[in-house]
Amino acid sequence: MTTLPKPRQPELKTSLPGPKTAAIMERDSQHLSTSYMRPYPFVPDHGEGVWLTDVDGNTMLDFFAGIAVSTTGHAHPHVVRAVQEQVTRFTHVCLTDYPQEITTSLAERMVKHVEKPGEKWRVFFGNSGAEAVEAAVKLARNHTGRSHIISTIGSFHGRTYGAITLTGSKTKYKRGFGPLLPNVSHVPYPNPFRPPLGATAETCGQAVIDHIEGLFQTIIPADEVAAIIIEPMQGEGGYIVPPADFLPKLRSLCDRHGIMLIFDEVQAGMGRSGKMYSFQHFDGQNGMNCQPDIITVAKGIASGMPISAMLAKESVMTWPVGSHGSTYGGNPVAAAAAHATLDLLEGVVKHSGCGDSLMENAAQVGEFIMAELKAMQVEFPFIGDVRGAGMFIGLEFVKPDGRPDGKLRDAASMAMFERGLLNLDCGEAVIRISPPLILTREEAATGLEIMRDALRALK
Ligand SMILES: Cc1ncc(COP(=O)(O)O)c(C=O)c1O
Repeated sequence: MTTLPKPRQPELKTSLPGPKTAAIMERDSQHLSTSYMRPYPFVPDHGEGVWLTDVDGNTMLDFFAGIAVSTTGHAHPHVVRAVQEQVTRFTHVCLTDYPQEITTSLAERMVKHVEKPGEKWRVFFGNSGAEAVEAAVKLARNHTGRSHIISTIGSFHGRTYGAITLTGSKTKYKRGFGPLLPNVSHVPYPNPFRPPLGATAETCGQAVIDHIEGLFQTIIPADEVAAIIIEPMQGEGGYIVPPADFLPKLRSLCDRHGIMLIFDEVQAGMGRSGKMYSFQHFDGQNGMNCQPDIITVAKGIASGMPISAMLAKESVMTWPVGSHGSTYGGNPVAAAAAHATLDLLEGVVKHSGCGDSLMENAAQVGEFIMAELKAMQVEFPFIGDVRGAGMFIGLEFVKPDGRPDGKLRDAASMAMFERGLLNLDCGEAVIRISPPLILTREEAATGLEIMRDALRALK
C-alpha cells in the first residue's frame, strides 16, 4: 500500500483582489456568458491539497471543493498519475459503441457499494450530474411505461430541460425557459429545522408521506407516476438532512404503488457524508430499508474530471439496445481519475494524516467540524442551525425572530473569503461546508479559526 506525502501548509494572504485577478475578471465580464455568477473575486492559478493559490499569489483554504467536487483536493499525485497514464494510452473511442476495460472495471467497482445479496446493478455513464438525472428519468419512464415524475421543493437536479423542470429551489433557473417537461409535480422536503405542512421536526417525514398519498387521491393517479426523485440529503436547497424515518417510509410508499425511487446523490454521494452514498445513513436502521431503484452520481466521483453515472437495479435497466447513449460519457481519462479517487475513498491507497480511507476521514473530521460549529452557536446566536453528515455541513443564519437571514449570510461569506477561506452559499441563508475529503483535523481547525474571526467581525 502506498502512503502519499502530506501537503505543506502555506501561509494565508488576504490582499484581495490583486491586480491580475481584477484584470482577468474584467476580461471575463466582457467575453463569457452573462449567466455566470461571481460571488467574490477569485481566479485560481494552481492548487495543492486543500489549498488554492490565485493568480496574484494569494493562497486560500478550500472549504467548498468546487461545489463538492474535488474529493481528493487539488492536483493529488495519485489522481494526476492515473490521468497522465491514461492520456498516453487513448483519450477517447466511445463507450456507447465499444467496451473499454477501464469503465467496465469502474462500473464493477461502483455497484459493489450498493448491491445487496442476490441483487445485481448496472451502470450508465454520462458527463455531468444533469445527464445522469436525465438518464434516470428516461429509464424510469421507459421501464414503467408511466409518465409522471414527483420531485421536491428546494431540490436541485441540474440545468438541462428535464433537470430544471425537476429542480425546485429557485425560480431563476426556470424563468423565461418554458415550456418545461410536462407531468412533473413538487412536494415539500422534510426539513426538520423548518418543518413543512404544519408538522414538527419529528413528524415532518410522515407529514410529507401523507401529503403524497393525498395527492394520489386527489390530483395525480398513482398508477401514472413513473418515479419519485429526491436528494437523500438536500444540497443546493440548504444542506438539509431529513428525519431518519422519512426515506424508509418513502421506499414503502413507492413499493405500494409500483413507483421507481430515484436518489440523486450527485452532491452528497461519493463518500462526502462519511458513507459512499448518503442514503446509507438511513438504510437498514431499525430494520427499515430505503434502498432506491436508481441512483445518480457525479461531482465527487473523479476529483474534477467530468464523468457521471446512473446506477440502476438490473431488474429496472430494461431499456433496449440503442435507446440511450453519449459520445463522451464514460471517457477513459475521467474513468482513470474516478478509479484513483475510489482508491483513496476506499483506502486502497492511503492519504497521509487521513486515517484508513478518505471516507473514514470525512466522517471523523466532519464530526469534529460539526461539534466545533455547534459550540460556536453560543457565541454567535445568529447561527440558527448546524446540520449535516461527514463533510456535508450547512450553517444557517437567522434573524433574531428566527427567520432566515440571507444578508447576514452573504456578509459572513465575504468576510470568510477576505480572510482566506473559500466558501459557498446555498438555500436562502446557508453557508455550505464541503471541503476536499483529504482535509485534516489541523487544516479544519485553521478553517474554523478563520470562520470565528470572520463572524466576530460581523458582530
Ligand atoms: C443534487 C444535484 N443533482 C444534479 C446536479 C447537476 O449536476 P451538474 O451541474 O454536473 O449537471 C447538481 C449540481 O449541483 C446537484 O447538486
